Amino acid sequence: MRISDKTSSGAGVLGIDFGTSNSAVAWASALPGQARQVHAIPLEGAATTLPTALFFNAEDQGIHFGRDAVAQYLSGTEGRLMRSLKSLLGSPLLQEQTLVNGQQISFQDIISRFLLELRTRAAAQVGGQLPATVVMGRPVHFVDDDPKRDALAEDSLRQTALSAGFEHVSFQLEPIAAALDYEQRITQESLVLVTDIGGGTSDFTVVRLGPERLAQGTKLQALGHANPRVSDILATTGVHIGGTDFDLKLNLEQLMPLLGYRHIGPTGREVPSAVFFDLATWHLINWRYSAKAMREAQSLRGNYTHLLLHDRLMKVLTERLGHLNAHEVEIAKIECSNTGSHAVMDLGAIERGLEADMTPQSMAQHLQTPLNQVVACAQECLQRAGVTAAQLDGIYLTGGSSALKPFQLALQKAFVSTPLIEGDLFGGVAAGLACSSAT
Ligand SMILES: Nc1ncnc2c1ncn2[C@@H]1O[C@H](COP(=O)(O)OP(=O)(O)OP(=O)(O)O)[C@@H](O)[C@H]1O
Ligand SMILES: [Mg+2]
Repeated sequence: MRISDKTSSGAGVLGIDFGTSNSAVAWASALPGQARQVHAIPLEGAATTLPTALFFNAEDQGIHFGRDAVAQYLSGTEGRLMRSLKSLLGSPLLQEQTLVNGQQISFQDIISRFLLELRTRAAAQVGGQLPATVVMGRPVHFVDDDPKRDALAEDSLRQTALSAGFEHVSFQLEPIAAALDYEQRITQESLVLVTDIGGGTSDFTVVRLGPERLAQGTKLQALGHANPRVSDILATTGVHIGGTDFDLKLNLEQLMPLLGYRHIGPTGREVPSAVFFDLATWHLINWRYSAKAMREAQSLRGNYTHLLLHDRLMKVLTERLGHLNAHEVEIAKIECSNTGSHAVMDLGAIERGLEADMTPQSMAQHLQTPLNQVVACAQECLQRAGVTAAQLDGIYLTGGSSALKPFQLALQKAFVSTPLIEGDLFGGVAAGLACSSAT
């Protein structure tokens, strides 16, 4: 069903949360004389998220998106899977050309193709016309401690949105969008630490929210005030750590040793580790399948004492099992966190009967360092805002990785008496983006 057949897409604004792992889109319609209404857009069947994944199918030469892309890849169809593309923003890799379906195309153009798909799917839900105005989300930092590259990342994202056909492109910080969405549902004035832990970044905002502030902000916005809530936002901080970093660490610690990571060779030295890092990093896996990288991996054989481990490494490379492994790790992480008990990674594709175990204890241990960094970023946000934990009314949790049990435990340990409020994990940022538009 379409959200509204009557609404002209010229009279509304699209909010796009282009995420490292998942993207979401919301539509703020504005009919003359009516209050703005915000709707989540179904993007793949009834689902209002689309995994940020493309699959270039070498058999039918088509491009597939989201769950369809991942499923095609996992079913063994010939082609290339692309994930974690947001991580390339701000890096020189973005302009690099890569071969897909017989064509050289830059990663920037691939992102643009993904945004066009979001725009087209949204159009089908809002009256058929392609939306012209978009508010894009952005993390507090695309790139940590490098303002130049950070500005470049935003600029590149703007270019990709323009190439996807949007005419008016503006940006809003993702945690502020999450806060504005949460504000729609609260009934009293609150001082909140909004926490958005996604696939690539962890972002924080200390913000004053409440029905009266919302009403006042809406009034000022209607009068053309560009940023009416600026005085309610006390501080924002962000760090480039998220679920894909947790996956990388868990992959390295629990799966890669089975292929030779930290394995001691006949000379008493460890096998060089670069191949394992790349194979555990979504957006670098494909590179390891190039002829040059394969030769390099083959030449590592002399560094192994147990040749079986090298056989496994070569099997992963020749049969292109890197994404499948990364997927197994991510699924085990989520299962282990949700159930509080151990999860098994099925590695039978590498070797019959091969498995790796993940337990809540091992997960907490391996993730301790990055989780401490994320919690330190939350504490820094409070410090910059000049407020104490005791003054907070709550910590609002959004983003898929905010559900991670070891994260919640670490956060609760640092903010002992502040209630954690679980919010809309995947759709809140897009809704907040759409309703934060001043147009
Ligand atoms: N129940 C869960 N427990 C732990 N982690 C989870 C759970 N569900 C999803 N995740 C993780 O959440 C991450 C995706 O979250 P989300 O969709 O909010 O990220 P994103 O918006 O794409 O990323 P970013 O905002 O950093 O660009 C993935 O790393 C995924 O593994
Ligand atoms: Mg996000």
